[in-house]
Amino acid sequence: MAKVKSKWICQQCGYETSGYLGKCPECGSWGSITEEKQITQTSQNIYPQGIENNSKPSLIKDIQIGEEVRISTNISEFDRILGGGLVQGSIVLIAGDPGIGKSTILLQTSGELSKSGQKILYVSAEESASQLKLRANRLGINSDNLYIYPQINLENIQSQIEELTPDMVVIDSIQAIYSQTISSSAGSVSQIRECCNILMQIAKTKNITVIVIGHVTKDGNIAGPKVLEHMVDVVISFEGDKYKSYRMLRSMKNRFGNTSEVGIFEMGVKGLREVKNPNELFLNERSQDAIPGSAIIVTNEGTRPLTVEIQALVGSTPYPSPRRVANGVDFSRLLQILAVLEKRVGLNLSKQDVYVNVMGGIEIDEPGADLGIALAIATCARDVVVDSQTVIIGEIGLSGEIHPVSNIEKRLNEAVTSGFKKAIIPYANRSVQNDKIQIVPVKRLIDAISACVSPA
Ligand SMILES: Nc1ncnc2c1ncn2[C@@H]1O[C@H](COP(=O)(O)OP(=O)(O)O)[C@@H](O)[C@H]1O
Ligand SMILES: [Mg+2]
Ligand SMILES: [Zn+2]
Repeated sequence: MAKVKSKWICQQCGYETSGYLGKCPECGSWGSITEEKQITQTSQNIYPQGIENNSKPSLIKDIQIGEEVRISTNISEFDRILGGGLVQGSIVLIAGDPGIGKSTILLQTSGELSKSGQKILYVSAEESASQLKLRANRLGINSDNLYIYPQINLENIQSQIEELTPDMVVIDSIQAIYSQTISSSAGSVSQIRECCNILMQIAKTKNITVIVIGHVTKDGNIAGPKVLEHMVDVVISFEGDKYKSYRMLRSMKNRFGNTSEVGIFEMGVKGLREVKNPNELFLNERSQDAIPGSAIIVTNEGTRPLTVEIQALVGSTPYPSPRRVANGVDFSRLLQILAVLEKRVGLNLSKQDVYVNVMGGIEIDEPGADLGIALAIATCARDVVVDSQTVIIGEIGLSGEIHPVSNIEKRLNEAVTSGFKKAIIPYANRSVQNDKIQIVPVKRLIDAISACVSPA
């Protein structure tokens, strides 16, 4: 009989200890370490064909490359983040907050793929078949090749895969299924790892594409997708504001392509719709008049530039210590920009609340947005404006100097396409050529302010 052993595992990061700890020494989470009983006879880790104990080293010049088969999802934004379609036999993790639209996009993708003749098995571990049917009706999906299987037992799923031999399997979600080989409950680190391991075996040995949905969790009760990231081939995170209509798919890891690529979708009654020209979405609510506290940046998400409005509100504080609120920009980045504005520009913000908002609810994690953020704050504090036809691009250093940014050509082209007439860019990027837009290179933050700010 298999041996039952107890382990204490952090549900956030997978760290293992021999006993209870209040705080995880690996990731710093509190109360995330729980006991998991397990039967030690678990499945073997199976690697892609050829990675076995008896394989021998070969010269790199003698290695033959097998053809990598890519399947288009017919959703071009999705294909782009995948690096040109799903690679047959790969395992893809889609991670996101509950309710963001993971089931929706995968049902849509399944619908599209099955229309083009692929046989799809959609394992629904959270919703009943009739719930899925309702969603499918709403999304207009009705296909001969799409099988819905409400099931939470992995061994049953496995035998259905054997019987049906689908081209693709969707697991919705990894936290809701369990394997009999392990006694700990569904959603625990051991279960998630073991289930992923078995699914990996299926993907690699049968050449079936497996897409796994993982909920991102804040509490430690069920394990998050973090514990799976190193096992799978592709990790896609699904982001966006649940209360706003658009969503962003971002590739975080891709063994077959570029990462940091983003795809933009809009959530509607008929499901997720691709947004091919996202700038319409982010800029169309903007007024044409310049207002204090507004600046347009051209950020570079993956290989695609986006023009986005940054808004700031600065006002005297009723609190003992002023508030700083950042929506869509990194909080410590905001604090750094505020410190530079105080020290190098002489803006006194010590008794002012500062709120910064990226319009459209998108997240910016790129330093090229710094200068735009600084100008939004500075114009609001001084009640002046940046001309509404101007875009701002640049990273700010601690001494107030402007650092160059990547992909400046693409950013300027995007600004031209969106109808902007003038661009403030870093001095070190000044060799860029574009005669459709007036280019103003700046060395320091203070120069940028004098180059584009005028009275309101
Ligand atoms: N009847 C409906 N009409 C329009 N949108 C809906 C409807 N039902 C659900 N939605 C949208 O779908 C989202 C849920 O998506 P879902 O794919 O179930 O998320 P997840 O699988 O990530 O938890 C909801 O937040 C809502 O925006
Ligand atoms: Mg769901
Ligand atoms: Zn941890």
